[in-house]
Amino acid sequence: MTNLKSILILGLSLAISITSTAQPAKGGKKISSDLFGLFFEDINYSADGGLYAEQVQNRSFEYNPTERREWNPFSYWEYIAPGFSYGRISIETTAPVHPNNPHYMVLDVEHVGHETKFVGESGVGLKNSGFDGIVVKSGEKYNFSLFAKQLSDSPIELSVSLQTRKGAVLGAGSVSTVSKNWQKYTATLTATASNDTASLVILAKTNGKLAMDMISLFPEKIFKNRPNGLRADLAQMLADVKPRFIRFPGGCLVHGDGLGNMYRWKNTIGPVQERKEQRNIWGYHQTAGLGYFEYFQFCEDIGAKPLPVLPAAVSCQNSGGTWKIGGTGQRALPLDEMQDYIQEVLDLIEWANGPETSTWGAKRAAAGHPAPFNLQYVGIGNEDKITPEFDERFTMIAKAVKEKHPEITIVGTAGPFHSGEDFDKGWEIASDLKIPIVDEHYYTDPKWFISNQTRYDKYDRTKGEVYLGEYASWGNKMSNAISEAAYMTALERNGDVVQMASYAPLLAKKNFTQWKTDMIFFDNVTLCPTPNYFVQKMFSANQGDYYFDKVIAKDEKDINLAASCVQDSKTGDIILKLVNYNESAKPMKVNLGRFGKISAEGEQTILAGSRDAENTFANTKNILPTSSIVKISKSFEYSAPSMSLTVIRFQTKK
Ligand code: AHR
Repeated sequence: MTNLKSILILGLSLAISITSTAQPAKGGKKISSDLFGLFFEDINYSADGGLYAEQVQNRSFEYNPTERREWNPFSYWEYIAPGFSYGRISIETTAPVHPNNPHYMVLDVEHVGHETKFVGESGVGLKNSGFDGIVVKSGEKYNFSLFAKQLSDSPIELSVSLQTRKGAVLGAGSVSTVSKNWQKYTATLTATASNDTASLVILAKTNGKLAMDMISLFPEKIFKNRPNGLRADLAQMLADVKPRFIRFPGGCLVHGDGLGNMYRWKNTIGPVQERKEQRNIWGYHQTAGLGYFEYFQFCEDIGAKPLPVLPAAVSCQNSGGTWKIGGTGQRALPLDEMQDYIQEVLDLIEWANGPETSTWGAKRAAAGHPAPFNLQYVGIGNEDKITPEFDERFTMIAKAVKEKHPEITIVGTAGPFHSGEDFDKGWEIASDLKIPIVDEHYYTDPKWFISNQTRYDKYDRTKGEVYLGEYASWGNKMSNAISEAAYMTALERNGDVVQMASYAPLLAKKNFTQWKTDMIFFDNVTLCPTPNYFVQKMFSANQGDYYFDKVIAKDEKDINLAASCVQDSKTGDIILKLVNYNESAKPMKVNLGRFGKISAEGEQTILAGSRDAENTFANTKNILPTSSIVKISKSFEYSAPSMSLTVIRFQTKK
């Protein structure tokens, strides 16, 4: 009897939890559930020296003068021989760890001196100060590794330490070679004190000859403890946005500075020592340590859909213009190479979604992810110049993907501006080929965003949907952020035709920035989120999949006022966004009559500040959203503060 009772109760509670799945309120318009996401490009040292947690710069001795005239394989390394030691170093290429990673360092230790209280330690070796200093935190652990190969008969002992600029040791370990073949050695260093400008010091303590490569140091505390992973604080700041998707790895980085510089995804998977590094179109070096596997893994870790973008077999039309290397302008892959290239695109889909037993699915499984990544979107091309060469190659790739993988949603491209020749031609090609989503880009004046809020109201709903893949107003002040917020309410209103949108660029390292307006600035220690970041976060973390008009009344003639109302059908929550781009408070009237029973209280978050207010490294918290619990009634008047975004979220009740 008791069992029957508990079965009944269990059955009842199951039924309750099933029927309590929220239904959208009546009269809503279905909008995209993937509307707001992130676009990550390796620009402004976003990857190496940024999100990628590797602390050693030029770990693989692959820097070279084609990237920067002053660079060479030994850049960012210093040869040291303390304690009256002596030896020699050379860069060699005869027998590397892997042909993709041709340069390595040979250390020839002729004499190891003696440690005395005057000279301190002794040995022959190398020092690396990372990307402007290595940040070390007291009590935390750091994972050191290197590939080494003994070139003389006896084992060579290496001391490894983290040191201050003045040479004080912050943590130490050692490794001893055991083989005349390349082999990976590891040591864990525990920091005894904190320091923001530390160096990694490796000293051979034994006479002999040794080859070294892939000298690496990762903090043990990295995002989700993923090996070869991401800097925890930066990754968390991105996760906090709750993006529905992440587009990667670019941007212009994708189509590259000349054909030889296109981003080829296959070069970025597998063991890091086997990846093909290359010059970054933005004027530095990319190790590909943050490669396709890590991007997909990060997306999965934060619940975002991956949106990889592949070159449309043409290089960037600005090739050679920015960095004066190459000078090719747009170049197209020869047609006789297209079948191989198309196969490369198809292989990505197999790598992401194929079974473990497939050729490329097996490589994903070997990297530690046997389950498919559930890739849904693939971008082809990045704001390319729409030439006949582009058209021909884009068409070939798109047709092949559609035929072999009808389940994949292709994202096409429509030039770098909100209008003009490339924009029109890009859309035309996409319409002819029935490409489901087209990527638009525009960076412009805040006033443009305010004046063009009706842009998508007028879009033809019979054509493809829009991915606003890159947009930003010129600046990181409050007025910029609020102009974007106003525009984002229009994206929500048009969420039936705008499928996705992402601000750009995302990250920028202080003193290593090529693109001025960005979402999050950072250095090795500090994160400086802009007001634009908070706008993105407030919209993205409060997305809905139904849009309701006529909920918020405002002065319709005032284009500086904008508002939207959405419902998240999973939770039933209603979310209001109220934007005031004026420099005085303005009233808005909210009428929630259509929503039946609603909770008595909700959460209200306000981002407000004067027109020119911004966050700086000196005051990273000048502009911050503030949240509070507020009473919610069926109808109320809201005074929107000057230059502000307000988000009000509350529950509906059955
Ligand atoms: O976001 C910065 C750059 O702007 C992107 O690389 C490119 O697509 C656009 O021109």
